[in-house]
Amino acid sequence: MKRGDVIGGYRVVSEPTNNGGGKCVWAFAEKDGKEYFLKRFLEPKRPGVYSGIGEASKKLLLEECSAFEDRHRTIMKLLKPDASGAGNIVLAVDFFHERSTYYKITERIDTSTLETPQALAPRQKAVLLRTLGLSLRLLHDIHIVHGDLKPANVLVQKKASVQTFYTAKLIDFDDSYISGKPPERGVIAGDSLFGAPEWRRYMQGDSDVEPEYLTTKTDIFALGLMTHYYLVGALPGHSASFGSPADAVNAGRQLRIDDRLTDEMHDLVLAMTSRIPGGRPSIAMFLAALADHEVCALSRKRRAHGGPSEAGGDSLSGAAGRDARPSRVRTNLGRTSAHRRADAAPHPASAAGSASPSPEPVPDTGAAAADSDAPPRGTSRVRINLGYGPR
Ligand SMILES: Nc1ncnc2c1ncn2[C@@H]1O[C@H](COP(=O)(O)OP(=O)(O)O)[C@@H](O)[C@H]1O
Ligand SMILES: [Mg+2]
Repeated sequence: MKRGDVIGGYRVVSEPTNNGGGKCVWAFAEKDGKEYFLKRFLEPKRPGVYSGIGEASKKLLLEECSAFEDRHRTIMKLLKPDASGAGNIVLAVDFFHERSTYYKITERIDTSTLETPQALAPRQKAVLLRTLGLSLRLLHDIHIVHGDLKPANVLVQKKASVQTFYTAKLIDFDDSYISGKPPERGVIAGDSLFGAPEWRRYMQGDSDVEPEYLTTKTDIFALGLMTHYYLVGALPGHSASFGSPADAVNAGRQLRIDDRLTDEMHDLVLAMTSRIPGGRPSIAMFLAALADHEVCALSRKRRAHGGPSEAGGDSLSGAAGRDARPSRVRTNLGRTSAHRRADAAPHPASAAGSASPSPEPVPDTGAAAADSDAPPRGTSRVRINLGYGPR
């Protein structure tokens, strides 16, 4: 594939690349004066007439292709681009093969991935997370699992109005499946950094994990990690002896949630990243928890040893109040306590050497860093009942 080629009636108008994509080469394309995003799948490949392989191998390949096509067409049928509320879901408008190669076409989105989400104001973060949550609710309501939820599959669109805000466009439904009916163990895809504990065990061949166990709750685990990432710019921490959050959780460890999160958000992220899928809240609960944008505020947690909170209270509004104070830009760029604790194990995003963006939280974004003497959690706090049981 090269610029100028016409594939399935779509003319390639940019240099094909695999930037941001693992299993594809993509380019922008045009047809009838409209712009599209064209994706060329690297696999599976349809066996050609002269491919020189035996009949048995050919049959296997054709079966694989047929399952691949079925999965894509099923999702396309369930998720039509004109479905109401689907405005932030970037869906396929065409799917075909030319010779041995499969292609998928979606509308072209003029967006970028957000490099420093932690720099956004709490209200902007809430809008971003809510638009993402609404798209996901649309999927989950019809029992579709996205299957590869991660920041690279969320394109962020900046909208300038009275107040600039950001909306999330959800892309890449190529690993989607019906809840409880995932692709086979050797076929299922996903990203180990964002994958849920049960997904990890399933793909590793753990026979205790039946296919029915892989549900929309796998997306909730990924969304929990992403929420933490959008709020502070890094994934929750875990011991360096684990390659991913899911591995740590499968070993019975709790992820280290950034201390600056409001208690409601801390509890929400922790519940979303539960080992047991049933312990994770639904997407509706996630949206309900985000109704008030102040849950997305970060607190400074500055306290004297053993003394009361600097803000004189620990409620949700207290946290927001601290953020509303004149910014105390820290000149000391040294690591914070939250960082020091996390240093025992690097943030998984960096530890895994993943392509996922994982900048460290920056201390001068208005969401100031935690100080060394942050109090332990669990003191009196105003709580929103999220409707899920104790962890
Ligand atoms: N509709 C779109 N409009 C513009 N860019 C897109 C669109 N869809 C995807 N991209 C870009 O292409 C990259 C790869 O696309 P994606 O569907 O995620 O492929 P892969 O399955 O290989 O991960 C994305 O990270 C994004 O930068
Ligand atoms: Mg992708």
